[in-house]
Amino acid sequence: MDIVTDPTSLRETLQGYRNAGQTIGFVPTMGNLHAGHLSLVHRAAALADRVVVSIFVNPMQFGPNEDLDAYPRTLDADLARLKAAGVALVFTPQPEHIYPEGVAAHTKVSVPGLTNVLCGASRPGHFDGVTSVVCKLFNLVAPTVAVFGEKDLQQLLIIKKMVRDLALPVAIEGVATARADDGLALSSRNGYLTSEERAIAPGLRQTLIAMGNAITNGERRYSDLCQHHSAQLKSHGFDPDYLEIRCRSTLALAGVDTQQLAIFAAAKLGKTRLIDNLQLDL
Ligand code: PAF
Repeated sequence: MDIVTDPTSLRETLQGYRNAGQTIGFVPTMGNLHAGHLSLVHRAAALADRVVVSIFVNPMQFGPNEDLDAYPRTLDADLARLKAAGVALVFTPQPEHIYPEGVAAHTKVSVPGLTNVLCGASRPGHFDGVTSVVCKLFNLVAPTVAVFGEKDLQQLLIIKKMVRDLALPVAIEGVATARADDGLALSSRNGYLTSEERAIAPGLRQTLIAMGNAITNGERRYSDLCQHHSAQLKSHGFDPDYLEIRCRSTLALAGVDTQQLAIFAAAKLGKTRLIDNLQLDL
């Protein structure tokens, strides 16, 4: 497995793959890899000859009071897992390789509309940080396909729009959320949970399932449904950030005629912010 840190070596190594006629599947990550990341790697391996993974804790997508410094960094364990998974190359840049003049001086890629709601409303500037780094990584890696998890469904929709709007020559593939046996969506941030919080955490998924069942059984009073279940989450110890039912392509609030829905949830448990979603086709 090749491990490269600077963009010049990255381009040279990837050119070798291309000269051999090999296609590249790309999985961008921030490291602290778990089974969810590995499912993205397996999907990329099914879609391309060589899998490239980036590990970069992107400072541009963290707000001033967020967990950039505390974000778990487990490079040695990550590299061992990626090697075992058959990854061809891991790109592990430092912030100065991606932002040579600093984060504030760097050009931003900003997707309008989809970024104003849900996590975009609670984390101002977050998605500009995501799209800016993903666009740059796409330009450096030039993959034929890039794979993202559906846990971050809003992120996936935003990246798809960026690729469409900027005519970037890469196919975007979403992969279903990987879950623990009790339903909790796998996330690098789950490691922050105390054992007491970890026992409560699957309640987020259970709430989404209960709401999904109500909708499937004909409930269309979406605002009431969200209010009721938000109160339920609070009573179980969550501090809900949002619980909303939206159209899965435009992210507009769902109405009675909306057919492709997602229920989006973000809630804090202690210091840990959890997100999840449930997709529904009516
Ligand atoms: O989903 C993530 O881990 C990050 O937002 C990404 C796509 C790697 C960009 O930093």
